[in-house]
Amino acid sequence: MTTKTPRVDVWIMPTGTIDPVIHRRLYARLDDRERAAHDRHAKEHDRLLYAAAHALKRHALLTQFDGAPTSWTFTENAYGKPRLSNPPDGTDPRFNLTHTPGLVAVAVSNGLDLGLDAEALDPSHATLDTASAFAHPSELRALDPDSPDYVRKFYRLWTRKEALAKATGLGLSLEVRTLIFADEIDSQWHLHEWDEGDSHRIALIAALEFGVPEIVTHRIDANDIR
Ligand SMILES: CC(C)(COP(=O)(O)OP(=O)(O)OC[C@H]1O[C@@H](n2cnc3c(N)ncnc32)[C@H](O)[C@@H]1OP(=O)(O)O)[C@@H](O)C(=O)NCCC(=O)NCCS
Repeated sequence: MTTKTPRVDVWIMPTGTIDPVIHRRLYARLDDRERAAHDRHAKEHDRLLYAAAHALKRHALLTQFDGAPTSWTFTENAYGKPRLSNPPDGTDPRFNLTHTPGLVAVAVSNGLDLGLDAEALDPSHATLDTASAFAHPSELRALDPDSPDYVRKFYRLWTRKEALAKATGLGLSLEVRTLIFADEIDSQWHLHEWDEGDSHRIALIAALEFGVPEIVTHRIDANDIR
């Protein structure tokens, strides 16, 4: 199943205003499997991000595809990439979600492979040692920790690489350190990336199979999740 006009919808929800009451409401949207995964997170903050991301995922899918969200079930590929196991007839919903302090986001399409990554711009994590885990040696050499835009460049690289790892579905099994980004994605993948305010960086990578997709962004408050 493909889209005639390729399109990706990206849903973005801040999490800073989610109090325990809203957290419980988001949790109520989850199915038993998601609730068990939620409950396995040791930290309250991680449970909150999980509930927010998966409630947003259901909201986005419900908005774009027919079907009661509580009846939808999910499966995963061998590397952990989730997918709907019972899509509504005649549709091929694809999605990818991301959670990071302060924000959750979900990208949804009908038939396009997707990878989405959002990262909070945290200078304390933006070390060259961390970058060496995902940057090609030539990309690493171009990162100068003394330059004023170092943190932004670090997260631009991080989100691109992680979005690609997620789009392929390979996750950490993709050797992102061996890829020089601009050279590798041209023919197969479309990159769309942006600053989300001053605090976050987001990268979306979508399959170019049916042409350059239209990207439609929705910003939503946790109170408006249905
Ligand atoms: C999936 C992965 C790529 C990202 O996980 P993460 O860092 O927790 O990042 P995100 O919040 O953006 O994404 C997590 C979501 O991606 C989805 N996901 C899991 N495995 C996936 C895969 N193989 N492909 C695509 N999506 C996947 C899941 O929905 C998961 O959320 P859930 O567990 O609540 O269902 C993971 O393999 C990982 O841990 N990466 C390490 C991060 C890192 O060091 N990155 C360096 C820059 S590349």
